[in-house]
Amino acid sequence: MKRLGILLSGRGSNFEAIADNVAAGKINAEIAVVISNRPEARGLELARARGLNAVCIPSKGMEREAYDRLVVAELKKHQVDLVCLAGFMRLLSAYFVREFPLRILNIHPALLPSFPGLDAQHQALEHGVKITGCTVHFVDENLDSGPIIVQAAVPVLDDDTVETLSARILKEEHRIYTEAINIVLSGNFRIEGRRVLLTKP
Ligand code: GAR
Repeated sequence: MKRLGILLSGRGSNFEAIADNVAAGKINAEIAVVISNRPEARGLELARARGLNAVCIPSKGMEREAYDRLVVAELKKHQVDLVCLAGFMRLLSAYFVREFPLRILNIHPALLPSFPGLDAQHQALEHGVKITGCTVHFVDENLDSGPIIVQAAVPVLDDDTVETLSARILKEEHRIYTEAINIVLSGNFRIEGRRVLLTKP
């Protein structure tokens, strides 16, 4: 059984969706550990309530690579095969990325490469796009970069606020994260340049 490590910083709804799908047998893996860089993250409590290993490694005041060394050690301790960033609001060091080659995924609430970084839904509204969405991609050491595995589009409506748009995107995030995890766990893909191409089982 493959082992997932979930990294989060806050609410944890993507973690919950993954955990629900693991429990329902829709992801053929187990959650080995949930790690938060913020002690107050709701996601950490949710993980504990589910009886999962939930660890806080506070990042405040720490240098990036020194912090990442602690996180990588914790992931290795739990023999994690695939790392899923689920609202983990930190850039990973080159060291971290090298330790898990093509084994770190991130979800972003926009159609990358549009609107990377913080407040992607706000950025989309401000820009006036009519379609936005979400992206699951492999993580490299650059922000919201790395080959794209799955995307989903959602319309931007005239009366949208950041809240209503975010909720519409979030629903799709919960769906495509599982889809992307399953693609990566199956190994039925290859990468050509930046393109992730699905291969036959
Ligand atoms: C999600 O919308 C996720 O896409 C976003 O943070 C939210 C976390 O929600 N991530 C980023 O913006 C990363 N650049 P959650 O804690 O409920 O999963």
